[in-house]
Amino acid sequence: RAKRPAGAPDKKLARPITKVGVIGAGLMASQFALLFVRRLKVPVVITDLDQARVDKGVAYIHDEIAALQAKNRISPDEANRLRALVTGTTDTSSFSDADWVIEAVFEELGVKQSVFAEIEKVISPDAILATNTSSLSVEQIGAKLAHPERLVGFHFFNPVAVMPLIEVVNTPQTNEVTLATAMVIAGKLRKNAVITRDTPGFVVNRVLAKLLGEAMHAVDTGTPFEVVEAAVAPFGLPMTPFELLELVGLTVGAHVLDTHHAAFPERFFESDNLHRLAEHGKILERDGKGRRTGFDKGALKIV
Ligand code: 3HC
Repeated sequence: RAKRPAGAPDKKLARPITKVGVIGAGLMASQFALLFVRRLKVPVVITDLDQARVDKGVAYIHDEIAALQAKNRISPDEANRLRALVTGTTDTSSFSDADWVIEAVFEELGVKQSVFAEIEKVISPDAILATNTSSLSVEQIGAKLAHPERLVGFHFFNPVAVMPLIEVVNTPQTNEVTLATAMVIAGKLRKNAVITRDTPGFVVNRVLAKLLGEAMHAVDTGTPFEVVEAAVAPFGLPMTPFELLELVGLTVGAHVLDTHHAAFPERFFESDNLHRLAEHGKILERDGKGRRTGFDKGALKIV
């Protein structure tokens, strides 16, 4: 199959964005929904399967707006304006006039495919679709769309407010207007956008899966957690592999490793222990303020 050129598109082709739809109200989605209201200053509608999840996502955004105001990053007026721009609903028909609809639902191909197939029935013919998938094929996610040319990968990193990069994933079907719109939006969000090919893990997670996979494999084969951390420390990374796994979520981390192992079995490890740790919920022990105090005793028993 022909490789997609990774050149920058003509930004004049970008569609204007007057309303954003966010599918999923989990932590990633809530974080980038806040960034959309803050930087694009347009209404943002968040949806999820049930009202409790929607309310949790909106509450997170309100808390973050309050935190920005407390740090004097935004004025009380600006905080009110931002709050007024965010709405939550379980009714996706409110996406009918959105120009940009981005999803961050459960990281499973079938789920994402059916979410987009449903959404395509209610959105306008000109709306652009984006997925925040961390390692699934964007082209396959769009396989059930009538218009896959309007789908692009738009991959944020955790914590969204501070991580400076977005991977814009250009599938063989993504058209120039879609790509240009994604690049312009990334610029307005004040992120550095790189256009990547639609390959497993794109670029960032491919590199990260090596680090995290090798770190877990060392543990799986008998090296203690603290030895792995001490060995990696000279690289000067802001977080150890196990801190990073907890930041991205142990379930997400295990899933990313599995996806890489499935795509390149000879190059990436999967880790049964990581799945068990994900079920257990943690690797690190923390005090009441969230500061780490050591390794969780239950986690130590698992490995
Ligand atoms: N949400 C929002 N803001 C956060 C945050 C969070 N979860 N965590 C930290 N911040 C903000 C703080 O509020 C602070 O902002 P301020 O300057 O306005 O007060 C700023 O970040 C710096 O925080 P701290 O001083 O408390 O902490 P550090 O200097 O230790 O930095 C860090 C924290 C930026 C998270 C740093 O440890 C880091 O860069 N870690 C690596 C993160 C990383 O690699 N992420 C990528 C994960 S891969 C991924 O997401 C892809 C997915 O597909 C799996």
